[in-house]
Formats: sequence, C-alpha cells, structure tokens
Amino acid sequence: MNRSLGVCYYPEHWPEAQWAEDAARMVDHGITRVRIGEFGWSRLEPHPGEMRFEWLDRAMEVLGAAGLGVILGTPTTTPPRWMLDRHPDMLAVDAEGRVRGFGSRRHYCFSHPGYRHEAERITAKLADRYGRHAHLIAWQTDNEYGCHDTVLSYSAAARDGFRRWLADRYGSIEALNAAWGNVFWSMEYQRFDQIDLPNLTVTEPNPAHVMAFRRYSSDMVALFNCAQVKLIRQASDAPILHNYMGRVLEFDHFETGADLDIAAWDSYPIGFLSDRLDAPTEHKARYVRQGDPDFQAFHHDLYRAVGQGRWWVMEQQPGPVNWAPWNPAPLPGMVRLWTWEAFAHGAETVSYFRWRQAPFAQEQMHAGLLRPDSAPAPGLAEAAQVAREVADLPEVPEARAPIALVFDYASAWAWDTQPQGADFTYFDLVFDWYRTARELGLSIDVVNARDGTIGDYSVVLIPGLATLPDALLDALDQFQGTALIGPRSGAKTEEMAIPVPLPPALAGLDVTVSAVESLPPGIKVPLADGGAFHRWLEHLDTSLAPRERTCDGAPACVTHGALSYVAGWPDAAARTRMLRRACETAGVTTQDLPEGLRLREDGRHCFALNYGPEPVTWRGRTLEPAGVTWWDI
Ligand code: GAL
Repeated sequence: MNRSLGVCYYPEHWPEAQWAEDAARMVDHGITRVRIGEFGWSRLEPHPGEMRFEWLDRAMEVLGAAGLGVILGTPTTTPPRWMLDRHPDMLAVDAEGRVRGFGSRRHYCFSHPGYRHEAERITAKLADRYGRHAHLIAWQTDNEYGCHDTVLSYSAAARDGFRRWLADRYGSIEALNAAWGNVFWSMEYQRFDQIDLPNLTVTEPNPAHVMAFRRYSSDMVALFNCAQVKLIRQASDAPILHNYMGRVLEFDHFETGADLDIAAWDSYPIGFLSDRLDAPTEHKARYVRQGDPDFQAFHHDLYRAVGQGRWWVMEQQPGPVNWAPWNPAPLPGMVRLWTWEAFAHGAETVSYFRWRQAPFAQEQMHAGLLRPDSAPAPGLAEAAQVAREVADLPEVPEARAPIALVFDYASAWAWDTQPQGADFTYFDLVFDWYRTARELGLSIDVVNARDGTIGDYSVVLIPGLATLPDALLDALDQFQGTALIGPRSGAKTEEMAIPVPLPPALAGLDVTVSAVESLPPGIKVPLADGGAFHRWLEHLDTSLAPRERTCDGAPACVTHGALSYVAGWPDAAARTRMLRRACETAGVTTQDLPEGLRLREDGRHCFALNYGPEPVTWRGRTLEPAGVTWWDI
C-alpha cells in the first residue's frame, strides 16, 4: 500500500452544489481519500425507520468520480434526538450519578442493550447499501471510543450487565468474595444481584471491585465494536478501522483492535500539549506551536502495535483546534512535519481534520484546510507539499526497532485505582521511558504485554506493569537481550491483591520488593551515580551486588543476566544513564541528539525532525524549526 493523504469531509454541512468543486480541489492538492458519514445519523434517518440514503449515494458518487477513495463511518457516536424517546435510559451516567445529556455527542452507554441493537440496525443498513460500493475503500466504526470520558458509565444498564459479567467470570458468589477479599469490612455478598457499581460508596470501594468494573467496561467497548464489525463483514470486504484518540486508556485497545484490520488515531499535537500532557511550564512554552516532540510518536508506535502493523492517522490537526484551554497556531511547517513523522513511523494514510472550517456549532473555531469562506488556510499548502514529496520517496517495509516498550491498559487501570501516591500515573511513567529512548536517538516498538513477544529485541522496557502475564514471564525466562523491569512491575495479581511470594518474583533474578514508598512533589532520593528517584521508591531484598545504589547505599538497580530491576521512578538523568547502559550491554548504538531533534528509522531511511523552535545541525545538515529531512541508511 502506498502512503496517501486523506481528509475528513461532511457533505451534510455544505450545499450539494459545492461538493464537486470541493472534491476536485482535494484531488488537485494531492488528497486521494476522504472520510465521511460518522456524524450523519440525523440526516440518514430523520425519523425512526425513515431512511434517507439518497444524499449519501450522491455524495459517494461525486467524491468517487473525482478520484477519491471513500472511508465510510458508522454514525453510532451521534444517535439522533428521537433515539432518546425510544430509549430514555440509554444515556451514560457519571460517577456522581448524574445523567449525561443530549446536545453534543457520544451520549450513549455501551451497556444499554436497546441502543446496542439500534447501533447494529443502522450499521447493517449501511453495510448492505455500501458494502460493495465501487468507491468505498474502508469502514470506520463509530468515532473515538472513550473520548469525552465515555467508557465508564454508572447506569442501571451497566449495573445489570456488570452483575451478569461477574456471575460469568466468577461462577459462584463464594469465589467472588474470596477473590476480592470481601471478608474485609464485612463486604461479603450472598448473591450477584446485591452487587452495585463501585461509585457513591462512603469511602473508597474495594480496589478489586473497581478493577472488575474497569475490565467489564473495557469488554463492553470491544463487544460494541465487534457487533458492528461482524455485520460489516457479512456485506463487505473492505478493511475496517476505528479512529482511537490520544491518551485514552479506559479500554483495552489491543482487545478492541483484534477485531479490526487497521488501527487509526486522531493526532492533535498542540491540543494534546496543552490539554493532556503533564510537563513543566517551560516545556509547554518551548513547544507551544509544535506539540510535544514525543507524544505523537508514542501514539504512532502504540497504534502500530494495536493495528498489528497496519495503522493510519485518521484525523491530523491542520491549524488551531478549539477544545484545548489555549489554541495557538502551528509553526509554519509543522503540518508537514507531523505528516512526515507519521509516515516515518509506518502510517499508510494521514488524513486531515477537516476540509473546511465550519462557521456554525461547537467547532466553529477549529481550523480546516480551508477557511469558512473556502479560501485556503495555511495547512492546505503544507498538505499539498507532502503529497508532492511522498510521490518521490519509495515506500519500504517497516523494520523491527532495536528496543521494545511493553504496554498494558490494565496497568493504567490498576494504578488509577490504587496510585498510592497522587502522581503515580502509568502513562507518565511509560512515557518518561519512551521519551528517554527517543532522546537517545532510538526507534521503538510498543508491544502488547499480554502477547509476551519480546524474543528478538535487544532491549526491553517494562515499567509499572501491574501484573506480569505468564506469556511475558516465559519470554523473560528465555530472553537474551537486556530487560529493564520496574518499578511496581508484577506488584498486583489480576484480582488487585499483593502477590505472595512478593514481587517481582522473577525466576532469573533474586530480588524481592520488601517495602514501597510514594514521594511527594519536590522530594528526591539521590542516586550514587547521579540523578534521583522521585515519586516512587522501593526497598529491595537481594543477595546480588546492586548495579546502582542510592546515596544512602540502598539497592537502586539490580542486574543478573538479562534482567535488571529498577527500584523507583528515575528522573531524566537516571533514566538516561540506565537506558544507555542497557543499550551498551545489548550492543545497541545510542546518540546524544540536540534538544528538540528526533530520529526515526524505517527499513531503509532515517528521518530527522526538528520540533525545537531554533535551527539544529545534525550530521552536517541544518534543520530549521519544523524542518524534516531523511537519508538512506
Ligand atoms: C476529534 C473528533 C473530531 C473533531 C476533532 C476536533 O476528537 O474525532 O470529530 O471533534 O476532534 O479536534
């Protein structure tokens, strides 16, 4: 498959007379794909059962005739208002027990059987009508599962579904009581129908109860998606994708993604920097018009794993967004840089959101490739430039990266459920290690913790993995490279209890975590070789001579053979040293990149991207801010 550019288009927002000209302009600018339909339900079915496909037929025809391949979205993220008359209890309920109302989007509870049925009904109708359409190239299910905090719902439908799910998982109420430790505080149940959702308790609910609800809620997303996928496959051979969002961890994307052909995600670098990243003010100021230099790359690598190699950017920020606390414009060149970065990480398609800025409703302040008056916005020329450049660069198969980062959604839920320190956040811990690897010039693969596929990697990072799955333990037993494990890896059972023998319980490494502490902001435990632990500190029992110690002489990092255990949350200096040493041991070359410069290798090229606001020189080439270059390796 060739690299291609796409755009998100809403024919229902514009007069029909404008469609052909829009389509022709897209093609003129090198865009070959267009996504439509994902919010169109109220126009497809204005009244229950009254289908109006004709406008979509004509839109598909006009777009396709211009040479565009169409990605058709199922509109289930925006059920029309009449749906609530049919299913008044289909809305999600927040943790405080408030119903989340109509008037925006994603207003449904994944557990509601009536709404699930409606979502299947509209999906089947679309699949039947367009499944073999000449211009259809892919399907998108729904839109951004989990966005706007929509995975966890405390509705009656969720409660009923959860009870059934529990009965299925545990078999007997005695087994559930034992697994959760319900003897504590006399929380034992006699029947599954006594179990409520873990909200509105007097003090914190049992973490095992919370984790079970998190697993259930994640399963509901996968089921909702899978139902659509099955119906589409009956009527269509086109690949099916979903557009995931940045830093949404409330459902297991690997599970949902297992039913799909492609993983796509929606990349809004400047919005994310302002809205979704825990970073110092100076960092946010430095990258205010570029986005964080690692946030997009991390998600590219994560979604490459979720898509088992096949992934797209379904929505690429083209200019200022509307939804972050502040919404600056990208530095000239950044739209091009973001697009090239995605291709460097193996994206098949990068599609901009959206074609024309809408002058009405919630996103009227969100840029498009065109202004509301149809004049070009700054992103358009950059997209067109990439289209020309892409045509000249041969595509090569992805190469395996030398280093792997093991990722696990359930660990994010575990440390959310029981952080023990207010800033112990799985994403931040993982992302810290990812950033350090990038600063050392490395290309990284993310791997699913449940697969245990670490065999051929030279270096493997396993921070904060709450439960070490059997497949991964087996893989670690055979592992020939260098694995950096911890902190908190293997610290919980699947049922959110402390395992005995105590963690990490690795066959090849005589280390026991005997005690743990969380450290408030500003408190550091300095390490003898430089840098410090912050946020989290573990005390280790070991017969091995530590590879690193704290300044007090306690073990900070213990190594034996392929395995190293890290007894805390290292700051940047400590992480850099530990990772550089792991790479040296494993024969992986690291580099010290100038600030803001990032590298990424595919099977044949090395791409260099300058996120920094000043020019950098690297290997005799000078890159201006937002500069991108590549060479053969
Ligand atoms: C995405 C969403 C789009 C649009 C966009 C604005 O999260 O999928 O429909 O709302 O954000 O940035």
